[in-house]
Amino acid sequence: MKRALNSLDKNQLEGLRALTRVDFNVPLAAGVVADATRIKAALPTIQWLREAGCRVVLLSHLGRPGGKSVSSMSLRQIVPELEDLLGLPVLFIEDIGTEDAVRRTRTMKRGEVALVENTRFFEGEEANSPAVAEALAEMGDFFVNDAFGTAHRAHSSTEGVARLLTPAVSGFLLAKELKYLGDALTDPRRPFVTVLGGAKISGKIDVVEALLPRVDEILIGGAMACTFFAAMGHKIGKSLVEPDRIDMARDLMQRAGDKLVLPTGATVAAAIEEGVATSQVAADSIPDNLAVFDIDEVSATDFASRVKSAGTVLWNGPMGVFEMPPFDRGTEKIALALVEATELGATTIVGGGDSAAAIARLGLGDRVSHVSTGGGASLEFLEGKDLPGVSALDDV
Ligand code: 3PG
Repeated sequence: MKRALNSLDKNQLEGLRALTRVDFNVPLAAGVVADATRIKAALPTIQWLREAGCRVVLLSHLGRPGGKSVSSMSLRQIVPELEDLLGLPVLFIEDIGTEDAVRRTRTMKRGEVALVENTRFFEGEEANSPAVAEALAEMGDFFVNDAFGTAHRAHSSTEGVARLLTPAVSGFLLAKELKYLGDALTDPRRPFVTVLGGAKISGKIDVVEALLPRVDEILIGGAMACTFFAAMGHKIGKSLVEPDRIDMARDLMQRAGDKLVLPTGATVAAAIEEGVATSQVAADSIPDNLAVFDIDEVSATDFASRVKSAGTVLWNGPMGVFEMPPFDRGTEKIALALVEATELGATTIVGGGDSAAAIARLGLGDRVSHVSTGGGASLEFLEGKDLPGVSALDDV
């Protein structure tokens, strides 16, 4: 159990520099924030620190610039959105490791917020260099990690710096993510139904293995279902398949028995194109010249009813090519079923990445119990792996 921000005495924090790792790795369009979900998710921590009279120094990465400055990945582009959301000016600090950067954190006013330039502009950040961690630590008096989306990375700004500053605690978002995902793993209300989708079984196999003993059902959609169809001896036409995972899929089906629920049919078409002709076919009748781009209506209805009668639902990965109607129907039906399950009292959790994007696109994000801000991080957590950004924080 890790120490959380609200275990600190708010009255003792006044004037301290709260070095706070957030995950502002958000999509940009023409230099403007296109989806502010991750920024909004960090606001409760930032506001709490401001109310405590801290000077809040925010660290984040953006993209994968590989240790050098890349203007299209500058966090300066995030400043206007952050200022709007906070309703106050934000100081932008460019040069980590300089005396000037440290001086600017010391001359900030209480309650003021600063955003430091992309931590991945600095060589050594991703190698968890002690020198980068020390330079970062100079900019704070204590450390708060609220970057769940990056907690699976052992970087200087997530792991290294947490070992240098005391206290080092979890922010509200990180704590909330760990609670939802942790409770689902250890104490789920039953039935516990997991819905997995996405393109590849290879990216999800570890999570399937980890969840199998814990869940009542795993529903499989997305292109990864095709590898299972191939394992059943079905022809899969021009669909995406992972030939080297077919044996693994067969073995998994044998071990999982009734727990593993596959679609009985698919929506097929010649290409992912708007207005293209589609048809619904049984899983064993996929035409040679077509490919699977979604689950079929019958399977979507079946999956939805299993979701609606669950006590806990964990969803990771779309059922089809949700960005392109009409291949979004299966995904939409699952999203609506999660909303209904939530209204019926279930705990419903949407893993980050594509399924979070899908539910946001449908405008249903606030009608489920929790939408994770971590794609890779939530998968690794569910796989039972250690998250270095969490492990490095103070124990309770
Ligand atoms: C994410 O978007 O999943 C996180 O911000 C982590 O980014 P990364 O995969 O580049 O480390």
